Amino acid sequence: MDHMCGIVGILGNTSVTPLVVKALTRLEYRGYDSAGVATLKNGQIERRRAEGKLRNLEQKLSQTPLSGTIGIGHTRWATHGKPNETNAHPHATDKLAVVHNGIIENFRELKTDLETKGIVFETETDTEVVAQLVTYEMRQGRPPIEAVAVTLPRLRGAFALGFLFSGEEDLLIGARHGAPLAIGYGDGEMFLGSDALALAPFTDEISYLEDGDCALLRRKGVEIHDASGQNVHRPLHKIPTGSFLADKGNHRHFMAKEIHEQPEVVGRTLAHYVNFSAGRIELPFDLPFDFKNLQRVSISACGTAYLAGLISKYWFERLARVPVEIDVASEFRYREAPLEPGSLALFVSQSGETADTLASLRYAAAHGQHTVSVVNVPTSTMARESSVVAPTLAGVEVGVASTKAFTCQLSVLLCLAIAAGRARGTLSEDAEKELVTALIGVPGLMSEAMKCEHQIEVLARELSKAKDVLYLGRGTSYPLALEGALKLKEISYIHAEGYAAGELKHGPIALIDETMPVIVIAPHDPVFEKTVSNMQEVAARGGRIILITDEKGALETGLDTMATIVMPSAHPVVAPIVHSIPIQLLAYHTAVVMGKDVDQPRNLAKSVTVE
Ligand code: G6P
Repeated sequence: MDHMCGIVGILGNTSVTPLVVKALTRLEYRGYDSAGVATLKNGQIERRRAEGKLRNLEQKLSQTPLSGTIGIGHTRWATHGKPNETNAHPHATDKLAVVHNGIIENFRELKTDLETKGIVFETETDTEVVAQLVTYEMRQGRPPIEAVAVTLPRLRGAFALGFLFSGEEDLLIGARHGAPLAIGYGDGEMFLGSDALALAPFTDEISYLEDGDCALLRRKGVEIHDASGQNVHRPLHKIPTGSFLADKGNHRHFMAKEIHEQPEVVGRTLAHYVNFSAGRIELPFDLPFDFKNLQRVSISACGTAYLAGLISKYWFERLARVPVEIDVASEFRYREAPLEPGSLALFVSQSGETADTLASLRYAAAHGQHTVSVVNVPTSTMARESSVVAPTLAGVEVGVASTKAFTCQLSVLLCLAIAAGRARGTLSEDAEKELVTALIGVPGLMSEAMKCEHQIEVLARELSKAKDVLYLGRGTSYPLALEGALKLKEISYIHAEGYAAGELKHGPIALIDETMPVIVIAPHDPVFEKTVSNMQEVAARGGRIILITDEKGALETGLDTMATIVMPSAHPVVAPIVHSIPIQLLAYHTAVVMGKDVDQPRNLAKSVTVE
């Protein structure tokens, strides 16, 4: 289960190994701890793999060179299965070699099935299951393309794959299912890579696969099939040199790209904190304190990061039974909060530079707090000044309205809350396993959640006509209601407010009439019934409800809504991460319909370094 991994594939005309290694060096920024290359030599698959940095692989290659004009390569960031040579990619059989990024969620089932057919596995990785499945199909007489085509629908999860086949000197197959994959076009050469950056040394003509796409690369070009098997064309992008970090891919706006990247970056972030095979949270750093001894956690942050913190208050209190105080940083820094020395002060920030959050951090440090910062920019001031940095691995976020940083913050905060619960003895081993299993499913559920996009595009036309919009939610859906309202007002300039559903009767109910859309976020969780009663109060006053719920919730409401957006069912604890998707898409498409500058809304800044 490898998340940050980088994939490269080259159909070239000269010896391809040095080129593959060169592309891999450009994927180093993702982080990795082993690497490998496979090529075809006289039609046979040959591999070299090495633990550690690329220079170890290069050393191996200089001792035992690898010839061939077609090859694939990989940088692996181990999360499951040690970062040793055996687990390094490419994984191979006598028929094929494969490189993989992401998780095959159902690999255990598939593996058991293959084992009953007598297939023996060499590694613990989920990737080997893909190699063996396709090999099995080929042994049944299927040609490579068909063997891959019948295998892909059996795989669940968010992943990208690259295949090389023995005896096939002019074929590479790439498949995308939730993790990005780009195709590079050369002159009589073709390339496959995790991103345009990897392919920059070879070509500036790139197209991006979409989810469900399978690409058949040959030296003369590429044939792309979508999930239904139809031949499709994906637009060609000319990538100007030097613009790699600011590349929108197939999307109109950075915000859209960043929303769609979430299954990948949340998966990558989780992989940093979760030991999937042991079903445990393993924090990638040492803490200078023991969760057991904490009397209190204080959180401060601004904007969307504050709302991620607010959701985590529910998690910390429920799972770890530790009281949480949370403030917007501009208040915390001046309110002269008494702080017990040796307590935990937690800060959440995408940029790590927000002036108020930084000031709060300094206040907390000066008052003897252990400071832990959940930040996305590892080189930021907050990262440098905190006792512990808990990184979100969202990658560069360009859109001013934060999306992928938010869901990565949630992922990290939940892992911290689970770790705290285990340390404090408030979560049993089994309860932790159950939560970790739920977390593993999150990237896949997020991909599935994107399927509501078309429905939301249509709905956005309605929403764009509103003057005011109310968002309601209870429990962890309450901060999400605040985030929904924040997103909508930030980028569409429609006035929106988020309220705790239970507070409806204490004010906002006075505003409800048939002109005001009310967006209710209500997954089928323990407070679902209560939220439904509040919805009834809205409906009784002619309010127009847009309900965001899950399959069970949709069955049970029995209310007439203007629209019901149905999310895949998720464990209630992780539901807010999945339900973030429709609220982001709703704000995005409403702003797009209204012709607003989505990525750079008026008056707002990405990073607020002044008070
Ligand atoms: C600005 C951005 C928001 C962000 C907030 C906090 O308002 O527009 O998207 O949530 O700052 O920024 P930080 O970098 O600390 O997360």
